[in-house]
Amino acid sequence: MASEGPRPLVAGNWKMNGSLTMLKEPRLLAAMLKDVRLKADVMVCPPAIILRRVKSVLKGTKIKVGGQDSHWNPSGAHTGDISPEMLKEAGCSAIIVGHSERRTNHGETDETIQKKAKGVQRAGLTAIICIGETLEERKAGKTLEVVSRQLKGSVPENSDAAHTVIAYEPVWAIGTGLTPTTAEVAEVHAHIRKELAAIMGAEGTATRILYGGSVKPSNAAELMSQPNVNGALVGGASLKAADFLGIIKVYT
Ligand code: 13P
Repeated sequence: MASEGPRPLVAGNWKMNGSLTMLKEPRLLAAMLKDVRLKADVMVCPPAIILRRVKSVLKGTKIKVGGQDSHWNPSGAHTGDISPEMLKEAGCSAIIVGHSERRTNHGETDETIQKKAKGVQRAGLTAIICIGETLEERKAGKTLEVVSRQLKGSVPENSDAAHTVIAYEPVWAIGTGLTPTTAEVAEVHAHIRKELAAIMGAEGTATRILYGGSVKPSNAAELMSQPNVNGALVGGASLKAADFLGIIKVYT
C-alpha cells in the first residue's frame, strides 16, 4: 500500500440507485467497520432524496455522507436543482461535481463544473471534481492533454486541499469492468499531481487524487497501491456493504 501523501478517501457514488430498502447497506457497513481501524476516510453519496435517512443511519459513525451534484447558487429560481448549502444542511461534507454522466447526459462543461465546484467550496464543503478521457481520446493518445484541459477548466482559483478532491475516472472504465493498467493509472495520476502543483501551488501536493472506474474488491489493492492514488470513487461496488467493505479493507 502506498502510504505516502494525503489521507486516502474511499467514496461510494450510488448514482440513481437506492431506496429506503437499501438503508440496510450503510447500517451493515457501519456495523462491519465498527472496530476496524482505518487509514482512510469513508464516504457514501446516496441520491439526495434519501440523504437524511442515510445520515441518520450513520449517526455516531465515522462514515461521512456526500452529495452527487449541486447548483452553483445558494438558492433561487432553479427548478429541480439543489444547492450546496442545502446538501450541507442535510449533513453532507462533500459533493461530487463534473461526473462524466453529468458531462454527457446534462451537457456540463468545464466552465459549469468550475462554477459548481466554487459553490461547493463557498458552502465550506469539499468539491470532488471528476475528470477523465473517453475511449476515443485514449486511443488517439490524448489522455494527458484532456486531463490537463479539464483540470485547468474545472478547478476553481484559490482551491485548497481541504476543499478539493480530484477523481480520475476514465469514461470507458465506468461500469464496464475494464480498468487501465496500473502503469497507465500511475502515469495519469502523476500527471494530475504535476498539474495540481501548477494550479494550486503547495496545496496541490496535499490534494487527494482518487481513481474511479470499475473498482472492486479484487482489483482495489493493486490500483490503490499506485503512487499518487489517494483512494477510490466507487460506483456499482459501493451498493452492497460487503463489496464496498472489500475495497475499504485495502486501508486497514
Ligand atoms: P463504477 O465503479 O460502477 O465503474 O462507477 C464508477 C463511477 O462512476 C463512480 O463515480
